[in-house]
Amino acid sequence: MRTDTPLTIYRKDYTPPTYRVDTVEMGFDLDPDLTRVATRLTMRRNPDSRNKSLVLFGDSLELVQLRMNGKEVGKRGYTLTNGVLEIHNAPEQVTLEIETATHPNQNTSLMGLYTSNGNFFTQCEAEGFRKITFFPDRPDVMAKYTVMLRADKSRYPVLLSNGNLVEEGDLGDGRHYAVWEDPFKKPSYLFALVAGQLVCQEEKYKLQSGREVLLQVWVEEGNLDKTQHAMDSLENSIRWDVERFGLELDLDRFMIVAVGDFNMGAMENKGLNIFNTKYVLANPRIATDTDYAGIESVVGHEYFHNWTGNRVTCRDWFQLSLKEGLTVFRDQEFSADLIGTESGRAVKRIEDVRVLRQAQFPEDAGPMAHPVRPDSYVEINNFYTVTIYEKGSEVVRMYQTLLGRDGFRKGMDLYFQRHDGQAVTCDDFRAAMADANDRDLSQFELWYSQAGTPHIKADMQYDAGIRTYSITLTQSCPPTPEHAKKQSFHIPVAVGLLDRNGRDMPLTLEGQDNADNGSAQTTLVLELKEQSQTFVFTSVAEPPVPSILRNFSAPVVLDVEYADAELAFLMANDSDAFNRWEAGQRLAMRRMLALSAAVQGDHALSNAQLDEGALGNAFRATLRDTTLDPAFCELALTLPSETVVAEQMDVIDPHAIHAVRVFLRRALASTLKVDWLVAYQSNRTPGTYSPDPVSTGKRGLKNLALSYVLEIDDADAHRLAQNQYDNANNMTDRIAALSVLVNSTAPGRDAALAHFFEEFEHEALVIDKWFSLQAMARNTDVATVRELMKHPAFTLKNPNRARSLIFSFCNGNPAQFHAVDGSGYEFWADQVIALNAINPQVAARLARTMDRWRKYAPALQEKMRAALLRVASAGALSKDVLEVVTKSLAE
Ligand code: TRP
Ligand code: ZN
Repeated sequence: MRTDTPLTIYRKDYTPPTYRVDTVEMGFDLDPDLTRVATRLTMRRNPDSRNKSLVLFGDSLELVQLRMNGKEVGKRGYTLTNGVLEIHNAPEQVTLEIETATHPNQNTSLMGLYTSNGNFFTQCEAEGFRKITFFPDRPDVMAKYTVMLRADKSRYPVLLSNGNLVEEGDLGDGRHYAVWEDPFKKPSYLFALVAGQLVCQEEKYKLQSGREVLLQVWVEEGNLDKTQHAMDSLENSIRWDVERFGLELDLDRFMIVAVGDFNMGAMENKGLNIFNTKYVLANPRIATDTDYAGIESVVGHEYFHNWTGNRVTCRDWFQLSLKEGLTVFRDQEFSADLIGTESGRAVKRIEDVRVLRQAQFPEDAGPMAHPVRPDSYVEINNFYTVTIYEKGSEVVRMYQTLLGRDGFRKGMDLYFQRHDGQAVTCDDFRAAMADANDRDLSQFELWYSQAGTPHIKADMQYDAGIRTYSITLTQSCPPTPEHAKKQSFHIPVAVGLLDRNGRDMPLTLEGQDNADNGSAQTTLVLELKEQSQTFVFTSVAEPPVPSILRNFSAPVVLDVEYADAELAFLMANDSDAFNRWEAGQRLAMRRMLALSAAVQGDHALSNAQLDEGALGNAFRATLRDTTLDPAFCELALTLPSETVVAEQMDVIDPHAIHAVRVFLRRALASTLKVDWLVAYQSNRTPGTYSPDPVSTGKRGLKNLALSYVLEIDDADAHRLAQNQYDNANNMTDRIAALSVLVNSTAPGRDAALAHFFEEFEHEALVIDKWFSLQAMARNTDVATVRELMKHPAFTLKNPNRARSLIFSFCNGNPAQFHAVDGSGYEFWADQVIALNAINPQVAARLARTMDRWRKYAPALQEKMRAALLRVASAGALSKDVLEVVTKSLAE
């Protein structure tokens, strides 16, 4: 095993930059094999800094020349160790000229300057700018940039960078140039350039203020039939940010560029957003409803960063959630507002909470658990996590729940008033929220500093004599790697009470004057601040059924002892759609855990066990309730995922969970067969495809019904799926049919798979789906995946492709991945090691698959540990992968 432990960076060690940079001028001679970069920085010593040496960072760079105030700085004038270049005793005012060289074609990390399909792209967040030039590459150094790009005109006709195009022309020798100027100061992580053969869809857009701006979506030739949805989403984003937050676009030009090789979803570079093609390209032939929704939120997300991230940025990378949590919150609200209807908003909320539970709760309970504002890291790239993004968004949402929409808006206004143009901290954001509303939010800080998912236990008591109903809430938080004992959080708990007819009771809380409101409220936000508190409701005429944590008002686990009948009652009646869904999930979870225990005790499963619970009846009632929104029905009729069930078990048994989930789906399929068929027929969406929320909801429910029907796996079912596959006029229906065919014994299974490949061979994003669907199929084992890796269309170098097959299998097919012989783990280790040599960021993501290894049965645990040790002792490990496996193996 590697013995040199990589350096840990601590938040408490923050010191201000020694020098500020006022202006940055850059000249690029773009060549895929060797690109030269000349940089001129004007800098001045920071009076706030005690250290006087000028510090620059560089990574994988050739330093060609270094000049300070016109004079060459020789080897004796600076030190360069571990990527840190220091000039000691530099003068107060410095003009630094740096010449560096890089090799874009060999850059498979996709950080810094790289090529993708012959074009140039950059990715600088978090620390990629230092792969382009030496620079004080930290977010609290903000400067104005002017950039000149020079390149061969025929190979790279399009030259783009941040801000405004101020000059372009020919250089005579077959080469040309363009000069871009960004009028706003920015941190280096927001720098970007793009050069190559690209085409764009463009539109002029009139802002509310009357100013006209140019909007462009750049793609490779042949993809202009797939940009309209991204453009529509951009326009919606621009309009929404003014309406909801009073924030207008500050540039004359806003560009989106799509690239096929990209480590993540997209990047908010000032005025030049760079996107994974997955979040730009769409038309009905290639994109599903989920893809359309994903594009809308990611386009929104990156656009909203222009204010939350770019105009106001992070002081240091520990504050990452300052921009990411807030911007996820904003994109979630954007999508919800675009749907418009109340039930549509609830559907969006449920989907977001599902992601949190599926991915963030396990993270928060595992070896990589960290607070929303971490205290330390080894590799910052490993901290672009669901905790920073999704839990961070929940933390922001809690301000809104506590302060109300208007109060939250006041806080946002004050935040921009105070901090526009600055690099700030999560504390600054919290202070703006508190000050604008004259509230004490000091205890709320614990949401930023303490990791782990809090649990709340709710105990209720009805006193018929004095007609009071009391709810006692008790909070606790399990220990996490750095913190064993936790202090009490400040938790908003939204509560309602249902009467015997299922209607909301008007609420009066003892000791609280809510008469001023005129009409009595039916949902109250209780503020839990102590470890345990009792809230007493008065004038409660009859024993109610409580609806607690409405709309998921806090990112916690709520323990309430409901009877099956109460859950069924809530599922049928709660005015809060989130809790209606939640009641059904609780009912299903209870059944799945009981059946898993039965399987482990070697008891055969029979349909009788389904009817024992209220589950079958509850599902039937939901399916037959024609007043329900189809999108909501789809969510309510989907059983908790295998991963979510696993988190509820003390010792995870992936095989038992899988057996139970399949059993329940088959049982529900046959018991409710007629109802599924009715749902299938009545939710068809004939005519031209449209990704609007109503059609999307119908397709979702119809395709869920199809998947249940296919559990029956008979000739009728096969025909239904085959027919849908053959006649689909959109990718949503086509891929839904193909995926159920692949999981069936239908005679047309293999032909459909082959047909799909041929039909979409030239659409990379669709071929990703083709791999992914097979990776997650029930009968796909490790050997099948290894076979698929030999397919000519497979490559580890493209992150989307690697994710589509390898990640989909390791994370999305638990029953096969956890094969008892450990072959899945060996496969995992092979791929982490192979990816580590190509792209450390992507490799480290895959390494996270093993996070929960200690929760598995001893026989599996042993084999998982062996695989982890093999990775940990492999040569030339990146610090990305090393951090993940070291923390995973730590006692
Ligand atoms: N800041 C980007 C976002 O959330 C994501 C991002 C961070 C990223 N680092 C990256 C994207 C590296 C690609 C590569 O929108
Ligand atoms: Zn972001």
